[in-house]
Amino acid sequence: MLPERRALAGPGPWDRREEGICLDRVRSGWVGLCWEPMAIDDLGTQVKSELFGTLGVGGVVYRYTLTSTETQLELISYGARVVALKTKDHNGVWGDVTLGYRELKPYVDNTNAYFGVIAGRYANRIAKGRFELEGETVQTTVNDGGNMLHGGVEGFDKRNWEGEVVADGVEFTLVSPDGDQGFPGTLTVKVRYSLKGNVVRIDYSAKTDKATVVNLTNHAYFNLDGEASGTILDEVLTLEADAYTPVSSAEAIPTGEIATVEGTPFDFRQATVIGARIGETNEQLTFGRGYDHNWVVRGKAGELRPAAKVFAPKSGRTLTVETTEPAIQFYSGNFLDGTLVGKGGVAYVQRSGFCLETQAFPDAPNHANFPTTELKAGQEYSSATTWTFGVE
Ligand code: GLA
Repeated sequence: MLPERRALAGPGPWDRREEGICLDRVRSGWVGLCWEPMAIDDLGTQVKSELFGTLGVGGVVYRYTLTSTETQLELISYGARVVALKTKDHNGVWGDVTLGYRELKPYVDNTNAYFGVIAGRYANRIAKGRFELEGETVQTTVNDGGNMLHGGVEGFDKRNWEGEVVADGVEFTLVSPDGDQGFPGTLTVKVRYSLKGNVVRIDYSAKTDKATVVNLTNHAYFNLDGEASGTILDEVLTLEADAYTPVSSAEAIPTGEIATVEGTPFDFRQATVIGARIGETNEQLTFGRGYDHNWVVRGKAGELRPAAKVFAPKSGRTLTVETTEPAIQFYSGNFLDGTLVGKGGVAYVQRSGFCLETQAFPDAPNHANFPTTELKAGQEYSSATTWTFGVE
């Protein structure tokens, strides 16, 4: 019998909860948390909610902590984002494997890194923020040079989502109004994070009342040796991809070509150390300042299938990514430059973390040969990604 956190529904008010259990403790100053002796083996995932911080006019930001015997995942409503993810290494020692901050303020002040966020309404880039949809030209806000990145000036990463505790996790809801950042249609989005043992699952769904485009992803930065452990250059990556989409310049807009990875530093079909070829003379690597490209995931989009695996030799930790999405952006943290100091007190230098953003193709609304990202009124967008943690 070990003391363990007892799950409570949230985010308050307490009267919606299993009445009685925690009332005395709440009254005497405990907030949303009870300690009760129980056997850990009897437990599923425990979910706790609590206040994380407040936004000037935007309301109250909650933190949700999902705990299993293998994994602990912390999420906040601001950006529906991952703020911590703890797993065990090969010695059974827990460590936080995602980059981020301890408090709300730096998340609000430094938005360019997109730490842990849900990116939307269109993750990744749309050239000039412009495309044709049902015979009309759509113009979105632009925030990356002249292009749209991760949903525009006020993307979903900057919204305080509505969170609700569900079985094994939390479901975040956001209603993006018609014309939000220039995108047509009222879009109602749900992102559900759930944890079972060593598997984190993210389910995305969305509905619109007018034709629009949708591309949702999570933008967590991982460092499997720990968020404060330096660079990810010696971690070993496999990508289940035979092709990628080259970009035309440092603006990182795809040319439209779907190119084979064969014979290039983009071939991760065999497990390869991330740093092994990152410094090679290669135009695409120069454009991206390293890896910041979209790989086409082998197999059938719509079916959950392996997309990526990372192994960190020092800690022995592994991460396997499966997705229903057609593609995955592997980003090697190229724009981190040591100015952001993370929760462990360590500055995030270039390549302190990597992102594996499961997604539709970047700029798909401007490329007829890319899988469509259009969502019509009445249709449902649905997507799932899992992160499975282990040790080897
Ligand atoms: C994505 C982009 C990168 C960069 C990061 C955030 O991964 O592809 O170019 O903008 O987000 O810094």
